[in-house]
Amino acid sequence: MSDAALQRRALLTGTGAYLPEQIVSNADMTARVDTSDEWIAERTGIKQRHFAAPHESATFMGAAAGRAALAAAGLAPEALGAIIVGTSTPDNAFPSTAVQIQAALGAKKAFGFDLSAACSGFIYGLSVADAMIRAGQVDSVLVIGSEVYSRILNFADRGTCVLFGDGAGAALLQARDVPADGAGVLSTHLHADGTLGDILYVDGATGLRDKPAHLVMNGREVFRHAVSLLAGAVTEALTANGLTAADIDFLVPHQANKRIIDGVGKKLGLPPERVIVTVDRHANTSAASIPLALHAAITDGRIKPGALVLLEALGGGLTWGSALIRL
Ligand code: COA
Repeated sequence: MSDAALQRRALLTGTGAYLPEQIVSNADMTARVDTSDEWIAERTGIKQRHFAAPHESATFMGAAAGRAALAAAGLAPEALGAIIVGTSTPDNAFPSTAVQIQAALGAKKAFGFDLSAACSGFIYGLSVADAMIRAGQVDSVLVIGSEVYSRILNFADRGTCVLFGDGAGAALLQARDVPADGAGVLSTHLHADGTLGDILYVDGATGLRDKPAHLVMNGREVFRHAVSLLAGAVTEALTANGLTAADIDFLVPHQANKRIIDGVGKKLGLPPERVIVTVDRHANTSAASIPLALHAAITDGRIKPGALVLLEALGGGLTWGSALIRL
């Protein structure tokens, strides 16, 4: 094949994850709020979540996940081009989590920035990284989602505090020249609707010591929008690539709620074994949920090289989107 037939793409060459040591079961939550394992499990599929200890910050966890992704790909930190961190819970307003992770990894050559798109942070980050790689700006980007939602949860609101957990996931994207039917990020589609900002938000900037920031959500409204917007985003990805749901090997959805995941899987007609679910173990880890789920399914051998993987997420903003990747 001549070089002219090759195109520059962003390949996913490594993933990594970090979950805090402390596991908090639904039964543990009943000691803190008026709830039950049955209520949480039936409505959301969540059985447990991880909560961070004081030292397990967004930087600490993101660096651990990023280090693992670099090691999996065999790329030295010194060779890394850029770091993008999707987070709503940075340690500080600045320096950014990304730049703190750059220091922790010793990724001296890399530039970096945080990206605020709530639970869509990983898909947004992946889209930006893909565009930078395709444009030739960088050859490698570490896309990380790292979240410490336990620090912005309102434990007086049982309708939200049982839904979220902490953790970090990372994916390394590297430039490669591949044939049209080869591996890489095939497409990303991003959306937002700021008129729906009031159905899921954090009331105030993190770091305002006299007014702790808290997550606020109208769960019913979020649920109402989620399945149709997500189904639209995944259909958009398939149409753009001339594919149908039957071509998809795995759906790796944002892990907010098992009922939303099942709803999208059903709309696509995908059997349950082709939908990756970690919400039972991790709860909703916002921007970290997709890379955590992706890492879990790659390391347990379900997602193999060559697999066609569809990602989707929706989060506060509202923001939502999809990405199609061939491993
Ligand atoms: N334990 C026990 N009972 C609870 C509870 C809890 N943790 N949280 C709420 N309830 C109660 C409510 O007080 C209410 O009681 P009432 O009928 O006596 O007033 C009842 O359960 C129903 O509450 P409601 O909020 O209407 O429940 P729901 O069926 O809408 O389920 C969610 C709530 C949050 C599980 C659901 O709306 C949801 O999953 N939404 C999407 C959320 C999401 O995924 N967000 C993240 C997107 S990134």
